[in-house]
Amino acid sequence: MHVAIIMDGNGRWATRRGLPRPAGHVEGAKAVRAAVEAAARAGVDTLTLYAFSAANWERPRNEVDGLMFLFRRYLFTETRRCIDESIRMSVIGRRDRLDESLLRAIEHSEQLTADGKRMHLRIAVDYSAQNGILQAARRARRSQTLTAQEFHRLLNEVNHSRPGASEVDLLIRTGGEKRLSDFLLWECAYAELYFTDCLWPDFDEQQFQAALEDYASRVRRFGKVNAETAAEGRL
Ligand code: IPE
Ligand code: IPE
Ligand code: MG
Repeated sequence: MHVAIIMDGNGRWATRRGLPRPAGHVEGAKAVRAAVEAAARAGVDTLTLYAFSAANWERPRNEVDGLMFLFRRYLFTETRRCIDESIRMSVIGRRDRLDESLLRAIEHSEQLTADGKRMHLRIAVDYSAQNGILQAARRARRSQTLTAQEFHRLLNEVNHSRPGASEVDLLIRTGGEKRLSDFLLWECAYAELYFTDCLWPDFDEQQFQAALEDYASRVRRFGKVNAETAAEGRL
């Protein structure tokens, strides 16, 4: 099962407490650790977390710097834990705008965790689904026979997702907004969507479980006729 999370609401969490927005990101980083643990315990195969969008570069300089600092710190502190927990870590998105030392830290974490079998943790940084689709389309341009599966593989390639990930089963967005904000547009074609008002720093294992329970109650049809509904003659 592939779960993706738009971790939104850090700024509001801080503002409500009279704190500067970066304080919300510090608290949000703690919630990331809890979510990763909860997902691994729940048997999720792939967890993709939206940490920084390509549009987030437009934020004030100190906020962007703070987020990059937290990300680097996360890699330093969590890589060991991922190795111990057999979690493979990948960073997806563009790499050409990240600073050199962060890039090295990313590559280091990816190499050290490459044997992880229990869960694939993908962290989206400088990520834009539209940009990824555009890059993949450019690579695919001359192929008339390209299948959706092959395109998906190209998409994983341009996003640096090694190994590639399957489509999303459950997309969670915290913070109350009901939009995708350029996240995994191709991969969410048939994802179940779960929106919660809970702000990201408050998202804990219990909240994660509630999302999984809600997902378990959904009937996924993928455009087909549900066999039970048809048998009851309701169609
Ligand atoms: C999500 O929280 C974290 C990032 C986008 C990096 P926000 O910073 O967007 O928090 P709000 O939405 O302003 O509350
Ligand atoms: C989406 O949140 C990006 C991340 C959570 C990293 P934003 O806060 O940037 O999205 P918008 O601006 O509300 O659409
Ligand atoms: Mg936001």
